[in-house]
Amino acid sequence: LDRKVKQNNWEEGNYINYKKMSENLAIVRARLNRPLAYAEKILYSHLDDPHGQEIERGVSYLKLRPDRVACQDATAQMAILQFMSAGMPSVANPTTVHCDHLIEAQVGGEKDLPRAIDINKEVYDFLGSACAKYNIGFWKPGSGIIHQILLENYAFPGGLLIGTDSHTPNAGGLGMCAIGVGGADAVDVMANLPWELKAPKVIGVKLTGKLSGWTAPKDVILKVAGILTVKGGTGAIVEYFGPGVDSLSATGMGTICNMGAEIGATTSVFPFNDRMYDYLKATKRTEIGDFARSYAKELRQDDGAEYDQLIEINLSELEPHINGPFTPDLATPISKFAEAAKKNGWPEEVKVGLIGSCTNSSYEDMSRAASIARDALNHGIKSKALFTVTPGSEQIRATIARDGQLQTFEEFGGVVLANACGPCIGQWDRQDVKKGEANSIISSYNRNFTGRNDGNPATHSFVTSPDLTVALAIAGRLSFNPLTDTLKDKDGNDFKLAEPSGDGLPLNGYDPGQDTYQAPPKDRSTVSVQVSPTSDRLQVLSPFNAWDGKDATDLPILIKAQGKTTTDHISMAGPWLKYRGHLDNISNNMLIGAINAANGEANKIQNVTTGEWDAVPAVARDYKAKGIRWVVIGDWNYGEGSSREHAALEPRHLGGLAIITRSFARIHETNLKKQGMLPLTFSDPADYDRINPDDKVDILATELAVGKPITLRVHPKNGESYDIKLSHTFNESQIEWFKNGSALNTMAKKAKN
Ligand code: F3S
Repeated sequence: LDRKVKQNNWEEGNYINYKKMSENLAIVRARLNRPLAYAEKILYSHLDDPHGQEIERGVSYLKLRPDRVACQDATAQMAILQFMSAGMPSVANPTTVHCDHLIEAQVGGEKDLPRAIDINKEVYDFLGSACAKYNIGFWKPGSGIIHQILLENYAFPGGLLIGTDSHTPNAGGLGMCAIGVGGADAVDVMANLPWELKAPKVIGVKLTGKLSGWTAPKDVILKVAGILTVKGGTGAIVEYFGPGVDSLSATGMGTICNMGAEIGATTSVFPFNDRMYDYLKATKRTEIGDFARSYAKELRQDDGAEYDQLIEINLSELEPHINGPFTPDLATPISKFAEAAKKNGWPEEVKVGLIGSCTNSSYEDMSRAASIARDALNHGIKSKALFTVTPGSEQIRATIARDGQLQTFEEFGGVVLANACGPCIGQWDRQDVKKGEANSIISSYNRNFTGRNDGNPATHSFVTSPDLTVALAIAGRLSFNPLTDTLKDKDGNDFKLAEPSGDGLPLNGYDPGQDTYQAPPKDRSTVSVQVSPTSDRLQVLSPFNAWDGKDATDLPILIKAQGKTTTDHISMAGPWLKYRGHLDNISNNMLIGAINAANGEANKIQNVTTGEWDAVPAVARDYKAKGIRWVVIGDWNYGEGSSREHAALEPRHLGGLAIITRSFARIHETNLKKQGMLPLTFSDPADYDRINPDDKVDILATELAVGKPITLRVHPKNGESYDIKLSHTFNESQIEWFKNGSALNTMAKKAKN
C-alpha cells in the first residue's frame, strides 16, 4: 500500500492514500470490535480523529476528511466567492468545477452550446478565472455532466468525495462514497476544515440472480425506490452486495447509485469488483485498478456485517419498471403499466422520449438504446414521439459519434442536445405543448417532480431505463409493452422489437473528443479573478467583521417569526436563483416568506427607528445603514429544509447578530455559526411567548462559553426589563468562528500563521 498512485490522470501530487486509510481503519476496528459494512469502512477510514471520534450509527456526528470536492456551475458560484473571501492562495483539497447546469436545450447541441456560452459568459469567465487562480480543475461548458465526468476521471474505489449536487452518489459505481452537500460544506473542505456528517445508518441491498433481456440496471433502483419510497433512505447509506452485483457494469452501478438520491439516501455504494477494474482500465486508469486490487479486502463489507435494514432483489426475476408520474417512487412493473395508465387517466400519447442525463448516458446505455432504434429503422419505422439524447460527456458523445450510435439516433428522428443537464433541470425551451396542457413524457432521467423538466405542472413525467424510453417513444403510447406487444412495420406487418443488446465498454476504447478541460496554470500568481463590478449576478465578498469583544445592547427585533420558517422562507428559490452569486442582490429575498408574529403577514414589519411598516430586507438595510445590529426571533425547527448557505449569509450581510429560536434545524444552525452569527435557543421554550416584536434586547455575548447559557436582557417597550437564559451548541472551535467573524476568517488566520 506504500505505492504512490495518482488519483487521476489530470492532477499532479494528489495520491490515493490506501495506506493511511488502512491505518485509520485498524484503529477504529480495534475500538469497535465488530464486522463493518463497506460504507462504514470508507467513512471511518477518512475520520479526522480515528482515536477519539465517537461512532454510533444514526447518532454521532463524524468529522471527516474527504479526498475531493466537486461543484457544478450553479452551486459553485457562491462556494468559490466564499472561499475567495478567506484569502487563501489555493484550495486545500483537490477540487473541480463542472459547467453543466446553465445550458438550455432549444434546437440541438451545436447551436445551444455557443448560445449558452454567450448568455452565461460572465459566470463562466468568473468560474474559469477563479479556478485558475485557486488551483481548481475547470471543466468548460460542453465537457459534460458533473457526475459522468467524475466517474470517467476522478472516482476511485474506497475514496470519499463531496459534491454540490444531489446526484453526486453516481460515483458509487466505482466503489466511492460520494455525497451531495450544500455549498457551505464544500467551502469547508476547500479551506481545510473537517467536514461533518451524522454517522449514517446502512441499508443493505442483496442482489442475487442475473440481469437479462429488457431488464436494465436502472430497474434495480426503480424497484428499490418503490420499496423504500422517497423518504426511506433518509440518514442512511444504501450498500449493494451479493452475487448479482457481478452481472452489472460499473456504469450500471453508477446509475443505481445516482438515483439513490431519489429515496433520500446519503449515498449509495457498490463493493469493488472486476467490472469496476474493467471500467478503470477502459478509462486509462489501470494503475488505480491494480492498486485497488491490493487493497481489495477493505473495499467490500466484512463477513457478518450488520445492516439496519435488509432488502433482497433477485435480478433474474426483476421486471422492467416505469416510475411516475410526479414522483420517482411510484413504481409500476411494465406488465402492469398499461393498466395503471388507463386506470389513472395518464395521457396515453407519449409526446417526448428523452435519453441520457447524468443517470443514464454510458456507452452501454447508448449502445442498447441504439440497438432498439436500429431495429425499428430496419422495420422501416422511426420514433413516433419527439426524441432527444443528452450525452453525459464529450467523451461519450465523441465515442458514439465514431461508433455510429449517434447517427442511428439521428436517423431515428432524434435531436442530439449539448453534453449537459438540459431538460433534466428544466433547461428546456419546449415548444410542442402549451403550458397547462396535460401530456406524457418519458425519460431515462432520475427525477420527475411536477414541472421539473418543462415548467408545465400538467406534464406527466415518467422515468425508466433508456431501453423502455426508446421502446415507448417508438410506439408513441404508454400502453405499449415491448416484452409482449407487437408494432406495425412500414408495410403494416406485425413485428416484435428485439431485446436490446450492446457492449458495456467500447471495443476500440473511448474517443476523448474535444479538449474541454482547463488545468490550473503552473504560475497562478498573475491570474486575476474576473468579476465585473457592474454585474448583477456576481459580487466579490468581503470578509465579515470580527466580533468587537463587547456585549451587544439595545438591539431591535427585526422580525419575530411565527410558525414554520424554512430555508425557503428565509431565502426563497425560484427567480432568486439567478442571484446566487451576488450576495447583496439575493439578500433582497431575506425572510420575505417568514410570517411576522406582530400582524400574521409575510414581508411586512415595523421599522422601530421610523415607525413605518416595510419589507423585511428594506428594514434590515435601513438598520444596517444606521449602524444598528439586530436579532431575529424564531419558532421551532427554524431553518429546516435545505442546506442553502444563502439563508445564513444574508442575515449576516444585512447586519444581523443573533437568531434566537425555540429550536433549529441542525444544518442551518451550523451554517449560521460558520458565518459568524449567534444561533441561540430559549433555554425555556415558553420564553418565546414572552417576547414582543417591539421589545429591545441586550445579548451578553461576553458570557459565551462551551456548555454555558448566556443572558438575554429584554427591555419591553412598556414595562420592566428582565433576564432570560439562552442555550447554544457552540464548541471551542466554533466560538473562535464567532470571535473572528466567520469560520473562513478563522481558517484564513490559521493559514497566515
Ligand atoms: Fe444534471 Fe439532471 Fe443530473 S440536473 S446533474 S442531469 S440529475
